Amino acid sequence: MISRLFHVSLYVLFVSSHTKASSPSEDLTNYVNPFIGTEGQGYPGTAINGGNVFPGPALPFGVVKFGIDTTAFDWTNVDANAGYTPDGYVTGVSMLHESGTGATPTYGFVHQMPLSTLENVNVLDNFTYMQERVEPDVASVGYYKTVLANGVSAELTATAHAGLVQYNFTSGSERHILVDVSHMLPSSGEAQHSQFYSNGFLARSPHGTKYQGYGVYRGGFSSRPDAPVYFCAEFDTTPEKVTLFSGPYTDPYWPNSTLPHIDPPVFTDATSVSGGQTYYSYARRIGGLFTFPSNTTTLKSKIGVSLINSDKACQYIASELTSWSLEPYISSVVAEWNSEVLSKVTTTDKSNLTLLEMLYSSLYKMHLMPSDRTGENPNWDTEEPTYDDFYTLWDTFRCLNSYYLLTAPKRAADIVRSLIDVWRWERFMPDARSGNYNGRVQGGSNADNVLADAYIKGLSAPEYGINWTDAYAAMKTDAELVPYNTFDYGDPTGSVKEGRGALPDWLSLGYVSMYDPDEGTGFGRCISRTVEYGLNDFALSQVAKDLAPKDYVKYFNRSAGWQQIWQHNLTSLNFTGFLAPLYANGTRDPSYSPLNCGVWCSWLDVTYEGLPWEYTWSIPYDMSTLISFMGGPELTESRLDAMFIPGLQDVSVGAGNGAGTAIFNPGNEPSFGTPFLYNYLEKRQWKSVMRSGEIINQYYSNGRDGVPGNSDAGALESWMVWNLLGLYPMVTQDVYLILSPWFSDLNISVACNKTLKITTEGLDQGPYIQSLTVNGESWNKSWLTHGDLINGNGGSLHFVLGGEQTEWDVGDVPPSPGHLDLGIRN
Ligand SMILES: *[C@@H]1O[C@H](CO)[C@@H](O)[C@H](O)[C@H]1NC(C)=O
Ligand SMILES: *[C@@H]1O[C@H](CO)[C@@H](O)[C@H](O)[C@H]1NC(C)=O
Ligand SMILES: *[C@@H]1O[C@H](CO)[C@@H](O)[C@H](O)[C@H]1NC(C)=O
Ligand SMILES: *[C@@H]1O[C@H](CO)[C@@H](O)[C@H](O)[C@H]1NC(C)=O
Ligand SMILES: *[C@@H]1O[C@H](CO)[C@@H](O)[C@H](O)[C@H]1NC(C)=O
Ligand SMILES: *[C@@H]1O[C@H](CO)[C@@H](O)[C@H](O)[C@H]1NC(C)=O
Ligand SMILES: *[C@@H]1O[C@H](CO)[C@@H](O)[C@H](O)[C@H]1NC(C)=O
Ligand SMILES: *[C@@H]1O[C@H](CO)[C@@H](O)[C@H](O)[C@H]1NC(C)=O
Ligand SMILES: *[C@@H]1O[C@H](CO)[C@@H](O)[C@H](O)[C@H]1NC(C)=O
Ligand SMILES: *[C@@H]1O[C@H](CO)[C@@H](O)[C@H](O)[C@H]1NC(C)=O
Ligand SMILES: *[C@@H]1O[C@H](CO)[C@@H](O)[C@H](O)[C@H]1NC(C)=O
Ligand SMILES: *[C@@H]1O[C@H](CO)[C@@H](O)[C@H](O)[C@H]1NC(C)=O
Repeated sequence: MISRLFHVSLYVLFVSSHTKASSPSEDLTNYVNPFIGTEGQGYPGTAINGGNVFPGPALPFGVVKFGIDTTAFDWTNVDANAGYTPDGYVTGVSMLHESGTGATPTYGFVHQMPLSTLENVNVLDNFTYMQERVEPDVASVGYYKTVLANGVSAELTATAHAGLVQYNFTSGSERHILVDVSHMLPSSGEAQHSQFYSNGFLARSPHGTKYQGYGVYRGGFSSRPDAPVYFCAEFDTTPEKVTLFSGPYTDPYWPNSTLPHIDPPVFTDATSVSGGQTYYSYARRIGGLFTFPSNTTTLKSKIGVSLINSDKACQYIASELTSWSLEPYISSVVAEWNSEVLSKVTTTDKSNLTLLEMLYSSLYKMHLMPSDRTGENPNWDTEEPTYDDFYTLWDTFRCLNSYYLLTAPKRAADIVRSLIDVWRWERFMPDARSGNYNGRVQGGSNADNVLADAYIKGLSAPEYGINWTDAYAAMKTDAELVPYNTFDYGDPTGSVKEGRGALPDWLSLGYVSMYDPDEGTGFGRCISRTVEYGLNDFALSQVAKDLAPKDYVKYFNRSAGWQQIWQHNLTSLNFTGFLAPLYANGTRDPSYSPLNCGVWCSWLDVTYEGLPWEYTWSIPYDMSTLISFMGGPELTESRLDAMFIPGLQDVSVGAGNGAGTAIFNPGNEPSFGTPFLYNYLEKRQWKSVMRSGEIINQYYSNGRDGVPGNSDAGALESWMVWNLLGLYPMVTQDVYLILSPWFSDLNISVACNKTLKITTEGLDQGPYIQSLTVNGESWNKSWLTHGDLINGNGGSLHFVLGGEQTEWDVGDVPPSPGHLDLGIRN
């Protein structure tokens, strides 16, 4: 154990080499409110139905996301996934968090908690020391402040791998910092995926100004096995007393369970304490109590984190935090966000502060994850970038990854390279990954879509360093290799760890058949997985076209698998022709309604987090066949209109994932592309603009409840940003649908150093396009290519806008590059 802790390794500090825009003239972080997306719509002051956005300091893609962890008052509806709830009690600050995620709370590791008394405190029981907040928390980019009822304030800032905290003590005469190595985010009650503390080690310097060690944890969203998180910390003041402690293993706190009686710990004067034998997972909980002189008013601590060893965590402190003052680090976080992210979109149109805050706060939240763990890969030596916290690609592939591709291709390439490197070492790319462990897959193998999008948008160029031979092999693994069944309690029918769990059906039937527990056939989420596997195979075909021409037809054909489950005569709400769950023998349950997903649109239902009606729109690569199956453009248009009629939603997809009462769900990803499909109907682009305006005005704002559900690592924010820019990417295709920009002018940094210029006139008259000029040419198509946007030194789009719903889009409708009618008529 000691040798593991003090192992000295040679390593090269990762130095960011990403291209930076020229230094911004304006501090755009002034428009960022980190609290947007922390409260739920309809539940002010609580996190119920909230975005679960992480509000603490962090760098773009920073490993460290330094924030407070709190309890919740209503564990039934709140999962405190980023540690933060507006109304709970504070149990400490910790260094590792996710942002915007749902399901199972993950991380909350590397803890400190300031205490001003030990009366009635059991340091192993956070309910005996948790603190109410007595002032509203304050957050700005790079800075967080919380003021606790015990008279202690905490101010936080962060670097890539470390954090600096300043505690001010204003009352009482005792000053303690509690370090609970077993601290983690509370369970939300999903038994199989709860986090557990397994083991730990803590050593202090003789005078107690420094400590280092590690905690080992398991579980969380990906159900990762035991893995250590190393830390190193120091105080700017010498404690007058320091004592380490240990106590018996405690089960994770269970919402509404009878709280276990937790015995107080055993304290020791020894300079180190260990949980137990190295690989033991039910080891003793350990921690330390650092007591400072009663005249201490301000106490600072630097904390570094590493997944490699604790010396490296100490080196992060030494290299990233050379001063004890917060200001320089706050400034550099601000500078980094400005240069890497915010200054990529500029406007001279400052007429609407609300809109500016919506734009820049969203850009901020879109770049908190994945975490850039380059140089921090504990599992293999690699020259490749390492990213973690894909939570999840199912959420982000639709339009967030495409945003990185357009505005930060080097970052996007690094992310792709890290996905491929996971395949090199672990046989499958992730669809979701946290704690360096793949899991859980909600639908298809959506890294395939991200890779294909990168390929067709120019990242095949050698300067991006993606090995496309390996990339295609990784995609092909998803398409051909059945992953072993993880027998997840949510879905025991096939693997949810990685790959395509329902691949056996896809290979033999051409569709995913409905789960029949009596026969033991079929798979959960049969409709949504059928359409997602179709898109995945379309993605393969687009890369295969160049790299493996012999495979092209196979994957192209397979992408049409959705037609096998299309029921041409099935009617719902006056419309005919729907996707349906079919058994393996090709029949369907006569009671099926496309308005109903099953029980709650989850793992074993026919569709995942969306209704069959919604998923019926999920054929982006072959809209022409879909439109013909729906009975032609007019019926398609009225069916699209029906998506937005309030009150037609039959089954809610659950807190954090749903908003409104229409079938279209603004709060979750399966509906993302639907409002813009009017662009596929000649002369109907204005309706996409109308929907875009309606949805944003109703569901997005600069308020704390300004996101209509879990932010999902910034996926929802990216959807909104594309709307504000007036474009929407059709992932895996060289197509951007045209909407209508919300600013009178925009400069967007694209493709390394180019500038896409968007200008408008008549914005004050209305949002509808009267005419459009693209790169100097008059334009009558409702779509653009990537080449149009990065044309020359960057494309130029000039919109003439107005209040009239003009039918300007008389040119070719967007292409259907996956067009194939298999001729099946069920
Ligand atoms: C904490 O004390 C320092 C030093 O006096 C001061 O600069 C800072 O503003 C204080 N912070 C809070 C939250 O009171
Ligand atoms: C409180 O401690 C329990 C037991 O270690 C832990 O399961 C839970 O996550 C903690 N709760 C919070 C809010 O930190
Ligand atoms: C859990 O406890 C809270 C607070 O006592 C209560 O409001 C809530 O209804 C309980 N939930 C369940 C599922 O019992
Ligand atoms: C606190 O008191 C100690 C002696 O009791 C003294 O050495 C130290 O300078 C004092 N510190 C402050 C911040 O006043
Ligand atoms: C965009 O850049 C051009 C120079 O290339 C500049 O003239 C214009 O003012 C900029 N517009 C915005 C919105 O920043
Ligand atoms: C600013 O934009 C927001 C969001 O679209 C809108 O609700 C608000 O009415 C606008 N304010 C003004 C003054 O135009
Ligand atoms: C891609 O990786 C493979 C091994 O996986 C290697 O054989 C090949 O040379 C690499 N290609 C390039 C262009 O580096
Ligand atoms: C692809 O589908 C076409 C017709 O739909 C069929 O003729 C052809 O054999 C298929 N090719 C492969 C490789 O599956
Ligand atoms: C279905 O048709 C009926 C009768 O024409 C009409 O009242 C109703 O609004 C239609 N429903 C939808 C969803 O279009
Ligand atoms: C098809 O399979 C389903 C479910 O396994 C079964 O209920 C049904 O009777 C079968 N129908 C035929 C025609 O075999
Ligand atoms: C972008 O511009 C910067 C500064 O001018 C330059 O250092 C960098 O090489 C350029 N990047 C590319 C990809 O052209
Ligand atoms: C659908 O309905 C039409 C008209 O009722 C009928 O001719 C056709 O056979 C039906 N098709 C299927 C696949 O059931």
